[in-house]
Amino acid sequence: MAKVFNPANRDKLHSKERERILPAQRILQACGLKEGQVFLDVGCGNGYFSLPAAQIVGAAGEVHAFDISQEMLDDLKERMQERALDNIKTYQVGEGGTCGTEIEEQLTARGDMMLMANILHEVEEPADFLECYLPLLKDQARLLVIDWRKKEMDKGPALEHRLDFESLEKVIREVGLKLEYSRILNERYYLLVADKI
Ligand SMILES: C[S@@+](CC[C@H](N)C(=O)[O-])C[C@H]1O[C@@H](n2cnc3c(N)ncnc32)[C@H](O)[C@@H]1O
Repeated sequence: MAKVFNPANRDKLHSKERERILPAQRILQACGLKEGQVFLDVGCGNGYFSLPAAQIVGAAGEVHAFDISQEMLDDLKERMQERALDNIKTYQVGEGGTCGTEIEEQLTARGDMMLMANILHEVEEPADFLECYLPLLKDQARLLVIDWRKKEMDKGPALEHRLDFESLEKVIREVGLKLEYSRILNERYYLLVADKI
């Protein structure tokens, strides 16, 4: 089974059920996202988190959204237009991330918060991947990871592709982040919050 998300399934990311069990605006605000901040969404898909983040940070803030799939980014741009949002900038990235690319230089404002939601289980080397994106964050800034719990369920990626919580915590320590808290969000997802020191 393929590890990377199939863009043909993109509408599922904005389902009513997802809104119920993963209320994006509430989660981002509870984790500390504020007006005027710079929010980085890695593996943004079609904007399930970028769109509410853009509303929270407002005109004085910025959202930078990264994905390997241009199809997903085009869908995000359409959704931005429907909501008359103009503070999200999208970037098509390679699998390994932004490090050593022009994007890294173009991004003048570093992030206050970075999100990796339902993406780390799709990448081959989570530690290398994180290390590549961390320079885009300011010092003391925050990383949020939301991902599928590693247990049998009727939805989501294949069990063997999921990143269990303990392995993720190990990766977080390996890349030098300070684990602030982690919790099971609901029957499907966990949340981890770590700070750059
Ligand atoms: C399951 S979707 C989640 C999208 C969004 N974060 C959300 O929660 O709604 C995973 C996204 O990660 C993207 N992706 C996978 N591997 C990636 C990589 N190495 N770099 C950037 N994006 C990647 C896929 O194209 C897809 O849009």
